[in-house]
Order: sequence, then C-alpha cells, then structure tokens
Amino acid sequence: MIYKFYQQHIFPHLLNQVMQTPSLMDKRRELLATVSGEVLEIGFGTGLNLAFYQNVDTLYALEPNPDIYHLAAERICATPFDVQHIQASAEKLPFADASLDHIVSTWTLCSIAHVEQALAEIYRVLKPSGTFHLVEHVLHNENQRIQLFQNLLTPLQKKVADGCHLNRDMEKLLKNAQFELLQCEYFDAATIPKIGQRMLLVRAQKCS
Ligand SMILES: C[S@@+](CC[C@H](N)C(=O)[O-])C[C@H]1O[C@@H](n2cnc3c(N)ncnc32)[C@H](O)[C@@H]1O
Repeated sequence: MIYKFYQQHIFPHLLNQVMQTPSLMDKRRELLATVSGEVLEIGFGTGLNLAFYQNVDTLYALEPNPDIYHLAAERICATPFDVQHIQASAEKLPFADASLDHIVSTWTLCSIAHVEQALAEIYRVLKPSGTFHLVEHVLHNENQRIQLFQNLLTPLQKKVADGCHLNRDMEKLLKNAQFELLQCEYFDAATIPKIGQRMLLVRAQKCS
C-alpha cells in the first residue's frame, strides 16, 4: 500500500524534477532540433520535450502511466501544435506498419519491461526512410567498476524508479533489432551520479 502510494503520488513528481536536470534539457534540445511533421514520442512522461519541438504538426504522446501524464497538462496547454495522448505501451504500438517518419524516445527504453519487443514494434511502424531519435542512459562499457555497480543496483533501481534498468547496452540492443545507427554518440551527463551518467544519443534508421 505504501509502495502504491509512492508510485502514484510521489514518483511522478520526483521524475518531473530529476528529468529537468540542465544537462538533460540541453540534450533534449540537440536531439529534437531536426524532428518535424508527424511524430510519435514513446514514454512521453511529463511533457518535458514539448518546448524543444520546432516544426512539429502532430505529436502522438504515447504514455501508459496516467499519473505521470497528468503532470504534463499545463505544458500541453501551452503547446502550439496538436498533442494526442496514446495510452498504450511501446510493446504494442497502435500504429500501422511503416507509417511514421519520426519516432522519439528520451530516457524511456531503460524503463520498458520488454525492450526487445518494443524495439521490434518501433522498427515495424517506422517508414523505411524514417528516423528513430533517442537518448538514453546506458551500461558503461568502458568502466568495469561502474558496470559492476550498475548490475548490482539495477534490481533496487527498478523498484524505486518505476522499472528503470541501469545496465542496458542500448547500442547492442538497437543493432540486434536491425537498426542502422546514422549517429551514435556517447557522453557523460553533468551532475548525474556516475552510475547513471554514461549516455548515448542515437539517430537510427531501418537497415536497408
Ligand atoms: C524515465 S521516464 C522518461 C520520461 C520522458 N521520456 C522524459 O524524457 O522525461 C520513463 C517513461 O517511460 C514510460 N514507460 C514505462 N514503460 C513503458 C512502456 N512499456 N511503454 C511506453 N512507455 C513506458 C514511463 O511511464 C515514463 O513516463
């Protein structure tokens, strides 16, 4: 009961604050500058990307958790383009095959329970010429000590942070899902604890 209260009434507010860390907001700006037209955002959260979309007509804001989506209300009201809430999970996207030009995911793939299935769905609904834009915290492949702690602490992190894994090798997962990585940049985000600091920014297309 206490855990349910935490998940419904405390965690969404913590998420909303933590995800506004300036170094993360800077990466949102960089990632989203070239995204335009009709866009699917996976794990929309509290709407923190909205301010950075420059040429978007319609945003399909896919967010399964109503307690989190609720905190996006004011940001959605202040947005000049159409935002449509899709209450669904990335593992089963309610879109036709090869129907979308742009799909966005910011720090969401870490939290998806069946990430391989979600990537297969993203692959399915993306047009052959479409682009998947993502930024994510990842397994630190160059530091064995951090990696050890990421593996040890992931079970606890999943409990306190709504299913978030500290130890996903996103580059490997994307390549296994048949994505071609047009841009693939690792960086360490400022002011984030070392265990979640290593990040990956990717633009990917379907392998031709
Ligand atoms: C760490 S938050 C990131 C939120 C937002 N993308 C951002 O950048 O601030 C992870 C988000 O993924 C969502 N999520 C979790 N499981 C999901 C799933 N299976 N499909 C789609 N979204 C999911 C959560 O509800 C949460 O909003």
